[in-house]
Amino acid sequence: MNHTINVGLTVNNIQYERNVEPRMLLSDFLRHELGLTGTHVGCEHGVCGACSVLFDGQPVRSCLMFAVQANGHEILTIEGLGTIDNLHPLQESFIEAHGLQCGYCTPGFIMTLVPFLEKNPHPDEQEIRQAISGNICRCTGYQHIVDAVKLAAEKMSSAQSE
Ligand code: FES
Ligand code: FES
Repeated sequence: MNHTINVGLTVNNIQYERNVEPRMLLSDFLRHELGLTGTHVGCEHGVCGACSVLFDGQPVRSCLMFAVQANGHEILTIEGLGTIDNLHPLQESFIEAHGLQCGYCTPGFIMTLVPFLEKNPHPDEQEIRQAISGNICRCTGYQHIVDAVKLAAEKMSSAQSE
């Protein structure tokens, strides 16, 4: 019988407890144990950024962490960010500015960009490109993603000044 460890964590404001093998990756835990398949897996070795989630508010690559390392911590995935009827401004802006094509990379970009825009609400193009430099998109050529981030920043700052 495989050795398992009890893990308790909060994902998208819901408490979960599971017994998992110590080698289980956090990305696999989210997708296979919790059914949160919005966190995508591309390279599985920390290069593409598709698996990015927020870990206690900080972006991390969930393919580079074990599920047991999340014990007692808070995770936010793309499923916890907005709803179909109430999208996060970044989700809206990616749609409106054509920041996605196949969409495979999109959850990772958005989860990387949420804390970036919180820290830097008025980024210039160079800062945006720097912020997404660890995320790979094979479809868009990045310009539309940059445009989407600018649009989201505008939406978020005008919502704050209302
Ligand atoms: S799947 Fe995690 S960085 Fe590529
Ligand atoms: S939209 Fe297809 S990989 Fe980015």
